[in-house]
Amino acid sequence: MNTDIKNKSLLQNSPLGGVGVWDADLYDNKHSFVAKYGEDVLGWLAPQKDEHILDVGCGTGTLTEKIAESGAVVTGIDASPEMIAKAKQAYNNIEFFVKDATNFSFDKKFDAVFSNATFHWIKEQQGLLQCIYDVLKSNGRLIYEMGAKHNIESIHKAVKQVLIEQGFEANTKIEVNYFSSAGEHAMMLEKIGFTVSNIIQFERPTELVGEDGMKNWIAQFCQSFFKNIPTEKANAIIDKAVAILKETNYENGKWYADYIRLRVKAIKK
Ligand code: BEZ
Repeated sequence: MNTDIKNKSLLQNSPLGGVGVWDADLYDNKHSFVAKYGEDVLGWLAPQKDEHILDVGCGTGTLTEKIAESGAVVTGIDASPEMIAKAKQAYNNIEFFVKDATNFSFDKKFDAVFSNATFHWIKEQQGLLQCIYDVLKSNGRLIYEMGAKHNIESIHKAVKQVLIEQGFEANTKIEVNYFSSAGEHAMMLEKIGFTVSNIIQFERPTELVGEDGMKNWIAQFCQSFFKNIPTEKANAIIDKAVAILKETNYENGKWYADYIRLRVKAIKK
């Protein structure tokens, strides 16, 4: 699929009219930093040849393929059929499946489970972590990075402010993200039976690509807030939010998202 997002109404760019689905091309072309930063997390995974590794929320498969380069046998799962179709097309040597991360199983066990920038899209964390626990071998490891408490707070705040000003207050309640503190997450992992061997929380202001970087980011990642709002109106709301954010998130000609990350290594004992 050829994507020239500049020539399209941003929220019309996705196949279901913009709300509730991600555009796999927009994700790859304009938000490739997701995979770039994910490569840091791969250092914590340290995949070994012949290990069986599951990538949860693999998206278009960029990091899944990086794991496979180690000689590990990798499987990728994602809830989005569009992302999985693209992953299968790009990497036909890797197994990819459309699966719900809160309700999945495999008839084999894995040495390690990996995930980058996915868990904060999943409200049902108990179900997610339990499924992962169940597919891990004894002494298997879970390595992941996700948004932490207060992640991208400035962006959500600006979008919500404009929604309220424009008479769409009910939409501000459609929160699809879950941002956890290190303490809260460690407790949840231990309750399930994991031993937390490392957990860190850190700020990582993240540059967004191009002059439309913030606009593109909101169009892709804040879609839930625009549910049932006509496309033209939604785009106008995005423009106003971007104008607010110019004060705080734009410096020396570059846009930044106020990312705060949680990075975890937990072991199934
Ligand atoms: C994140 O990677 O932290 C993130 C991205 C999009 C929406 C929410 C969080």
